[in-house]
Amino acid sequence: MGKIILSASGKGGVGKSIFTLNLGATLAERGLKIVMIDMNVGLRNLDIYLGLENKVIYDVADVLSGVCTPKKAMVRDKRFPYLYIIPAPQKKEKFTASPEDMASFYEHLRENFDYVLVDGPAGVNSALCLAAAGADAAVIVMTMEHVSMRDADMADQILRESGVLTRVCVVNKVNPDLLRSGAMPSFEDVSSMLRMPLLGIIQYDENISIAANCGVPIVRQKSYIEENFNRIADRLLCY
Ligand SMILES: Nc1ncnc2c1ncn2[C@@H]1O[C@H](COP(=O)(O)OP(=O)(O)OP(=O)(O)O)[C@@H](O)[C@H]1O
Ligand SMILES: [Mg+2]
Repeated sequence: MGKIILSASGKGGVGKSIFTLNLGATLAERGLKIVMIDMNVGLRNLDIYLGLENKVIYDVADVLSGVCTPKKAMVRDKRFPYLYIIPAPQKKEKFTASPEDMASFYEHLRENFDYVLVDGPAGVNSALCLAAAGADAAVIVMTMEHVSMRDADMADQILRESGVLTRVCVVNKVNPDLLRSGAMPSFEDVSSMLRMPLLGIIQYDENISIAANCGVPIVRQKSYIEENFNRIADRLLCY
């Protein structure tokens, strides 16, 4: 049985989708079967970040309303035999699923995949609770800014109340120079404020944006970022 892992944040734009797709590609590279669900209803991103936007026909709302099967809605990534996405619907009105519907959808997927990675929405509202329904674990992505840390803490509380038992955090867009200069909060500040274990850090690197803009997971290129994601995946596999 596979695991359901949600990427969440609270604050928007911190790198949840980039994290999700590169984690998915890292795990798929190891031969694991991965499906990524885009739960950014109205604002989907995973399809473009993976260069799959022209292949999208169905979406999560179509699956949950019975218009198509989960298999039909899956778009396979051209680089891996077992990496799929199910896109989010572009129209909010189309999506009327309940948390129970989501949980049973995830249960179905976990029978056929090693990991179901859910790219969650920003915010700490009902959309987050819907994406989190039945998830085994959440990775809360944040940056080294006080606003992001406070929002991550809020997301942590909401996810705990929603029954997501395992919650860990990833600090993204880390700028080592700013960190050294003391201009940003330190890792000690992060761990004293947050109640979650740190799964890993990812440096700020414009190559991440460039790769995403070209529809390529950055972990396809041999670099320290790929090594970083491999370490994060190793730790995640222990949960
Ligand atoms: N480590 C990084 N270094 C440089 N740029 C990054 C990094 N991580 C993400 N980005 C860039 O930050 C922007 C936001 O990333 P992303 O879309 O993954 O955030 P998000 O949290 O999913 O946003 P949203 O809340 O809108 O869903 C993108 O332009 C992306 O390329
Ligand atoms: Mg996103």
